[in-house]
Amino acid sequence: MIAVNHISFDYISEQGSFRRVLADVSFEIADGDFIAIMGANGSGKSTLARCLNGLLLPSTGEVLVDGLNTRDAEQLRRIRRRVAMLFQNPDNQIVSATVEREIAFGLENLGVEYEEMHRRVEQMLRRFSLLPFRQKSPHYLSGGEKQRLALASVLAMEPDYLILDEPTSLLDPAGRREMVRLFREWHDQPATPRRTTVLITQFPEEALLADRLLILQRGRTVMDGPPETLLRRTEELAGLGLDSPVRFKLQQLLGPLNPAS
Ligand SMILES: Nc1ncnc2c1ncn2[C@@H]1O[C@H](COP(=O)(O)OP(=O)(O)OP(=O)(O)O)[C@@H](O)[C@H]1O
Ligand SMILES: [Mg+2]
Repeated sequence: MIAVNHISFDYISEQGSFRRVLADVSFEIADGDFIAIMGANGSGKSTLARCLNGLLLPSTGEVLVDGLNTRDAEQLRRIRRRVAMLFQNPDNQIVSATVEREIAFGLENLGVEYEEMHRRVEQMLRRFSLLPFRQKSPHYLSGGEKQRLALASVLAMEPDYLILDEPTSLLDPAGRREMVRLFREWHDQPATPRRTTVLITQFPEEALLADRLLILQRGRTVMDGPPETLLRRTEELAGLGLDSPVRFKLQQLLGPLNPAS
């Protein structure tokens, strides 16, 4: 479980002035949860994501990952091992000269033994349809292939939690569908502890995949509930700068014309 307890986050400028971008955010992520987070640009989503694995430390409050406090420097390695992050732009994440080296990179850092590393690299190349590119430089891959590689590389490390920060926003519709299929498949595979996903997204259709949706506005959680319910509140969402699923908008438009309703 990840417990986010009353966290706030301030960015401090060089002049010493500070800007609060998260304010008193609290929620719990239970093992096995699939949570979506939406919010307008600048509402604090990425800052919150970075607090979940200790890449950023909250200014006040705390984040506990399976009881381990992200403020505890000695626990950070264990925390990062459990909580994987995937960002919007794979170019900021990929570091190796070939596709297979990239998947092996994180495993080497974890000290995974050669045989096991080899097994996991092969498995990931296959599962993520990257076999034809194994010896190629990631540089030559398409955007969708690169993001697949970035996901394969973090999942090879067998995390318990996967934090996805707008992982599909630079992809075309086919690339987006493939990405969603891959992280959904990871989430649904039986494991102990159960796999847990936090998906930050601007696409309401993706948020519908989640069991629970949190909506941020200027650093605060303003809605928290089932996506099916929240995403029907199309006007309220528009007021927050958010889109709703096309079918809900259509239903609302067509509703009064439908004699059955
Ligand atoms: N390193 C930084 N220094 C100062 N301010 C920052 C820094 N990073 C982000 N901010 C500011 O903090 C606020 C929240 O940023 P954050 O990236 O968390 O929002 P977001 O919801 O992820 O936005 P987006 O939808 O654009 O990705 C923004 O106003 C942003 O300008
Ligand atoms: Mg962001």
